Amino acid sequence: MKINIAFDVYGTLIDTQGVLDLLTDLVGNQAQIFSDTWRSKQLEYSFRRGLMQRYVHFSVCTKDALNFTCDSLKVSLTETQKQQLLDSYSFLPAFSDVETALPKLAQKYRLIAFSNGESNSVHGLLNNANISDYFSEVVTADEINTFKPDPQIYQHLLNRIDSQAKDTWLISSNPFDVIGAKSFGLHAAWLKRSPAAVFDPWGIEPDIEIGQLEELLHNLE
Ligand code: LAC
Repeated sequence: MKINIAFDVYGTLIDTQGVLDLLTDLVGNQAQIFSDTWRSKQLEYSFRRGLMQRYVHFSVCTKDALNFTCDSLKVSLTETQKQQLLDSYSFLPAFSDVETALPKLAQKYRLIAFSNGESNSVHGLLNNANISDYFSEVVTADEINTFKPDPQIYQHLLNRIDSQAKDTWLISSNPFDVIGAKSFGLHAAWLKRSPAAVFDPWGIEPDIEIGQLEELLHNLE
């Protein structure tokens, strides 16, 4: 039986820093802190929504986090500029190793895109980045109205692909996702996308750490 590889999307396959150029036009030298605050608030809002059982689409978390970031950094953007930023979130680029690694990985493994984003957004992103054909399934949080790292969503992944944890890997650059998957019982690889990235010191470690997706070709057996 083929091993299943479920890829996290935002930050793992797709580069959320891709909004930086537009942010630099809009907020100048605050672009990096703006981008970092926006991303971390977006995730925090999804975690809190999940805990409170007040699910909204991930795109709503993204929009609310954008408004928070403007207030917090005292940046005043027009509604049109905010919409431009939100629209740019649908056209984010894939990381450079993605296009070369996925065709090779797809020959050997069954690939799944697995995201907290909603189905429409994730399909759109993968299409825009020209990588959708490599995935046999796209499994998203809006199918069960909760977010990673709720254990229910890792179970939902297995249900959707009709597989068992022992045959399934989660690949993510997001430590919260790797720890969530390991805690549930999947195999997990941490993709260290930046040299400065730090893995949460919880005592729950990834099975492997990689720097490039192609390393998966020889590491999962
Ligand atoms: C994803 C984000 C949260 O699930 O990384 O795609």
